[in-house]
Amino acid sequence: MTMTVTSYPTTSLPEATPATAMKKIIILGATSGIALEVQRQLAYRGCELLLVARSPQRLADLQADLAVRGAQQVLTYSADLATIQQHAAVFEFASHNVPDFDTVLLAYGSMHDQKESEGSVDVLLEELRVNFVSAAAILTLFAADLERRHTGCVAAITSVAGDRGRRSNYVYGSAKGALSLFLQGLRSRLHPAGVRVITIKPGPVQTPMTDHLPNSARFAGPEQVARDIVGALERGSPDVLYTPKVWRYIMTAVQQIPETIFKRLSF
Ligand SMILES: NC(=O)c1ccc[n+]([C@@H]2O[C@H](COP(=O)([O-])OP(=O)(O)OC[C@H]3O[C@@H](n4cnc5c(N)ncnc54)[C@H](OP(=O)(O)O)[C@@H]3O)[C@@H](O)[C@H]2O)c1
Repeated sequence: MTMTVTSYPTTSLPEATPATAMKKIIILGATSGIALEVQRQLAYRGCELLLVARSPQRLADLQADLAVRGAQQVLTYSADLATIQQHAAVFEFASHNVPDFDTVLLAYGSMHDQKESEGSVDVLLEELRVNFVSAAAILTLFAADLERRHTGCVAAITSVAGDRGRRSNYVYGSAKGALSLFLQGLRSRLHPAGVRVITIKPGPVQTPMTDHLPNSARFAGPEQVARDIVGALERGSPDVLYTPKVWRYIMTAVQQIPETIFKRLSF
């Protein structure tokens, strides 16, 4: 595990759109394809960022890139977020270096082939650990800090796959569904403290996670999804963001299909 603390002054950059309350943001899973685009848009707004991800080299590259794009400060911390034993150190680094952070965005996740998860309990448990157990664990640390300070926003990327269990990806979907439920309860708990909780449910997006899938060229672009996410972070709403928006209507329809029909569908 390595750690880098560097801050870059803002120089000769495009005029930044003023952010609202969102200024100091922690990104858990900063190397994700979706997170990369979110970070670029946050950098353009002149935000201060703490990036957490596994690869020190990719973090260093991101740090330099985002500084050039306008981020006021970019700190990085290298850790494997799926390993719960590393969470205390991540949180300690954040508390020490960005004690007044106002937003935390959880963006990491993995999608194994469904057949692998059906054939191996180890793969299944890994899928649940990465996408749900570790996510709930680290969000609990950051949520408690915001709750104590009566401010801020917790946001996490789940998936439309968590809205209904499907034959083709119910292991990944159940982890994301559990995370969505966790966020729903967390939202209710943090509401009296004035802390926002945003559940982000993208439909299929063109990123390294999906580029092996058929028709991936027709998926939404990460820029569009990032725009929706950054808009939600700025507003502190909605509670549940479907992105692109059409997925709210698609999933409402999908949820209406009776189970007796749904179980016969092969998708
Ligand atoms: N792409 C989609 O269609 C889609 C749709 C709905 C929801 N989502 C969700 O959106 C989020 C971002 O995904 P993405 O599409 O941007 O995917 P991505 O580009 O593949 O990024 C995945 C991120 O998760 C990290 N990660 C993967 N496995 C890990 C593990 N075992 N331990 C720790 N970190 C791990 C990766 O770190 P490394 O860079 O170190 O590998 C990377 O930062 C995920 O939660 C995903 O489930 C994606």
